[in-house]
Formats: sequence, structure tokens, C-alpha cells
Amino acid sequence: MNVLVVGTGYVGLVTGLCLSMHGHHVTCVDQDQAKVDALSRGISPIYEPGLEDLLQAQLQANQVQFLSYVPTDVIIDIALIAVGTPSMATGEADLSAVFAVVDELARTLPPHCLLATKSTVPVGTGTRIEALLRSASRSDIRVASLPEFLREGSAINDTLNPERLVFGVNDAETEQQLRSLHAAIEAPVVVCDRATAEMIKYASNAFLATKISFINEIANICERVGADVSKVAQGMGLDSRIGASFLRAGLGYGGSCFPKDTRALVNIAGQVDYDFTLLRAVVEVNQRQRLEPIRRLYEWLGDLQGKSITLLGVAFKPGTDDVRESPSIELARELEAAGANIRFCDPVVKQFHDNGRHFEVTDDPFEALHHADAAVLVTEWPQFIKLDWTQAAKQMRQLFLFDGRNVLDPGEMEAAGLILSNIGYRPKHTYAVV
Ligand code: UDX
Repeated sequence: MNVLVVGTGYVGLVTGLCLSMHGHHVTCVDQDQAKVDALSRGISPIYEPGLEDLLQAQLQANQVQFLSYVPTDVIIDIALIAVGTPSMATGEADLSAVFAVVDELARTLPPHCLLATKSTVPVGTGTRIEALLRSASRSDIRVASLPEFLREGSAINDTLNPERLVFGVNDAETEQQLRSLHAAIEAPVVVCDRATAEMIKYASNAFLATKISFINEIANICERVGADVSKVAQGMGLDSRIGASFLRAGLGYGGSCFPKDTRALVNIAGQVDYDFTLLRAVVEVNQRQRLEPIRRLYEWLGDLQGKSITLLGVAFKPGTDDVRESPSIELARELEAAGANIRFCDPVVKQFHDNGRHFEVTDDPFEALHHADAAVLVTEWPQFIKLDWTQAAKQMRQLFLFDGRNVLDPGEMEAAGLILSNIGYRPKHTYAVV
């Protein structure tokens, strides 16, 4: 098939390249000319394992091309919208990029195309797109919802081997076309109407975020009653009704999806006069959780004024260079406001901007820890877990270490001379669970 993908972020780029691997002819469009130029030369603007190799292979095979405009001289069977839907101040998803694309596609798409949304869009957006197309005299274009569930860091594998496909369609022809587009993928397909598909995406992300906030609440209670949250999660997760995934206590969820989508779903509910009490609490718990280390830093250091604190990890999770809604950045803002000096370390992120300020990041943990009064492990990169902590401790002025992801072995840290605290109580010795 001939596929047009608009937007070359994590979702658009990975989707486009994976579809091209399946033999479809793909045109990826992005308004950012510099990005298009880099992609056309085989350079990926984002860090995602395996992505650059895949890009170069598909360019070489002539299966994909990158343009800064929607072409009118290329056959297109299906157009996918994969542009950003960031949060507005109200929590509502900003759909201006989506509607700008629809406007352009109404003028450029060939007759009887299928238009599907990959971006996470509020329930009812498909119907609004249909109305826009009708007012532009383009009722010939059919509209579908095709939500994406890929995770950054494993985006290619998630796209090639999804656990399910969701087709939000209003007619059998569209369903058939989407089945053909995904013919190479073996996965259960949920066929439903558009509003239901749009809700599946939000409900999935909101549920996973709920699991994370739930285990973080349990962790905070564990710390106070002397129970080990890692074992609690293990003991809970073996119940197949609960499941083991997304029960890792830590500094909460970040990234481009969970924070934005949970806020948006609270807003969607509010617009139909429904107070989504549970999800509001999930958001609030997450907000509080990312600042957990601060309480301990005050206990350790008293005043934070002039103290040197190292944040290990800037990416919102390992395996990505994405810093959107990263706990590290929020933690740094609070610590700076308390007068602390912050140094950042990350194996992939080299620099970032926050509130118009530029921050440098070193990839050398020893350099970052030099003369530090305390360190907080924010992102569980393997480089930090495997670090020679005895050597690391020698760099530090004071030996306080907060493990915000519960990945460091308390016995090993003690042997290195470090004073360790983590999320929820984690004892030095436990009996192995069989
Ligand atoms: C998520 C969804 O998983 C994906 O289906 C959707 O399409 C986009 O949002 P992503 O944001 O890439 O993907 O990362 P994910 O691995 O799901 O982690 C999200 C956040 O939750 C991270 O900040 C991670 O650190 C945190 N997390 C995850 C926990 O704190 N504990 C866990 O047990 C799992």
C-alpha cells in the first residue's frame, strides 16, 4: 500500500519505518525542514535503539522518503496523522497541530483516501475531523482511529510485535483496509467504533499510571511500617489477576504520554460533567512522588543552601533521550529553589532546556559526583546500576545516596561506605522467594 505519515516524532517515524519494512511504500512528512534533511541522509533526530540502522536500510531499499510538505504527485491509499498533542495549561490536549494537518490533507489527498489518527486524541476527535473534511467538501475521505501503544526504548519491537491492534472504524471497507495495512502482523484485533478506540488508548495509559501511583503509595506506607515494597510487588504480581508489570515503585511516571494523557482524561471526563476522582488522585500522587528525595535530603543535610547535589539520570526512563516530564528536571527545579547546586549525569542526554535555560549534562558519573554532598539516582540506566560504587563514593564529599528507582543493592552500597535511602523500605538481607 502507499502510506503517508504526517509527523516524524517517536510514533510517526517508527510507524512509518516499520510499515515500510512490511513492504508498504511510505512517505513521511514533517514541517521541520532540518529534520527532513537529516532523515533523508539517514540520521535519526531521536535516540531509539535500532532506529538509525532501520532508517538507513529502508532508505537504501527505496521504501521510504521524507518530505516537508504533503506531495500531490504521489499515490496515497492511507494517511496517518502522528503529530504531537501536548497538554495545555488546563490539562486539555492541544489539537491545533492535528487540525492544521487535516486542513492541509483536505486540500492535497487524492479522492477516497483513508485518514487515520495515530496521535492520542480526545474522544470525539475523529467525528470533529470528519466534520472538518465535510465542510471542506471532502466527504470522500474516510476517518479511522488507529491508536498506538509503543513504548520509547522498545518502540520498534513494540510496533512489529504489538500485543493488540485497535481499529476504530465506522464501516467494513475501512476495517478491511486496516487489516491489509497490518497483514504482516500477528496480533489480536479489537474492532470498534472510533470513540471507543480513542477511549481504549486513554483508559490503557490511565490504568498503567494508576498501577504506578498505587505501588508508590504502598511503598510510602511500607517505609513507615518497615515492609519491603519490592517483595510486596513481587508477591502481588504473581497473582495473574494483578500481573507483575508496572508495579515498580520509584519517582513516578514521566515521559510524553502518561502525564499528558492522565491530565487529558481528567479533562475529558470534566467536559461531560464527570469527576474522575480516582485519576485525579493518581496524578496528584505522581506529582508528590517525584519530590520524595527532598524530604530525605533535608534530613541528611539540614539546609540545602550551597549544597552540591548530583542527579543521576535526566531521561525520563532508560533507553531513551526523551526528557519530557522527566522527574529529574522537576526535582532540580525544587532543589535549586532551595539553594542547592545541581549537576546532571546521563549516558545519552547531553544537554536540555528548561524554562529558557540551558543545562549541560555529563556522561561521566565520577565527574558528576566529584565533591557532591548527596546523589539521587533518578533514572535506572544500567550504567548506574553497574557503577563501581566504591570508586564513586571516593569522589563524594558526603556519602548520602538516594536510590529513586530501588535498583541498587543496599548491602553493596553499605560496603562502599554509602548511606543509602530508597523508595519504600528495602532491607539489606532478605530470603529469596522461590
Ligand atoms: C507509555 C505506554 O507504555 C505506551 O503504551 C504508550 O503508547 C506511551 O506511554 P512510555 O512513556 O514510552 O510508554 O514508557 P513506559 O515504559 O510505559 O514508562 C512510562 C513511565 O512509567 C516511565 O516514567 C517509567 O519510569 C514509569 N514506570 C513504569 C514506573 O515508574 N514503574 C513501573 O513499574 C513502570
